[in-house]
Amino acid sequence: MEIIISENPAEASAKAAEAVKMQILAKRSSVLGLATGGTVIGLYGKLAEMCGRGEVSFKKVSTFNLDEYVGMPASDPNSYRSFMEKHLFSKIDVDRSNTHIPDGCAENIRAYCVQYENKIRLCGGIDLQVLGIGSDGHIGFNEPSSSLGSRTRVKTLTEKTRADNSRFFGGDISKVPMHAVTMGIGTILDSREILLLAFGEGKAEAVARMAEGPVTATVPASALQLHPNVKVFLDEPAASKLANKAYYKYVYANKP
Ligand code: F6R
Repeated sequence: MEIIISENPAEASAKAAEAVKMQILAKRSSVLGLATGGTVIGLYGKLAEMCGRGEVSFKKVSTFNLDEYVGMPASDPNSYRSFMEKHLFSKIDVDRSNTHIPDGCAENIRAYCVQYENKIRLCGGIDLQVLGIGSDGHIGFNEPSSSLGSRTRVKTLTEKTRADNSRFFGGDISKVPMHAVTMGIGTILDSREILLLAFGEGKAEAVARMAEGPVTATVPASALQLHPNVKVFLDEPAASKLANKAYYKYVYANKP
């Protein structure tokens, strides 16, 4: 796990955007795994700027989002389709038919989850997966106790996650759905490269447990220790509880 600590979220997002750009320049038809949430908004803004300047094109890129709330129609302003449209898709040259977001309203949701996995496989697998992390250590909506080998399925959200996400629902936790369709941890680990972003003190504990704690289903993000190609982009507050912080900075400053 390569841990890259920046002064602030803008600097960290710019570095992560550079990594996404390099991936697309190396393979125009890259398959990207995408996250939603407050953390990735800056990254998407940078990618939109790069696309606007003609530095990178998403014309041949395919995308697969990690998750969607169960029962949330794509047309709802709180859906992850709406989020992606607002923060990324409407600002880049991606072909909408190549963008995939789990359908939280699928009639047979179990069969749908299998189809979503198959679609990822048919596209050749995810080249680069973008992740945020929950304050409870979740990735995607794989909440604590998720199997480290799990595939796309429905998960029940923790009260903590619902409380964290209530800010997108006018602060009303009762409006936050209880269930979500999410790629599994096994699905995420199949990606060829993973970028995880985390900002703010509220993420510091989860980040330290992810990177320096034991690999355990209690901290789903700790499964990333098993992946050979993970880059973690942090601001100083999110890095504040890392025991080996000085070493990570030293490694980055002396990159061969
Ligand atoms: C969203 C997702 C979640 C978020 C995480 C952090 O698609 O998969 O794991 O990345 O909950 O959310 P923010 O960035 O809002 O703190």
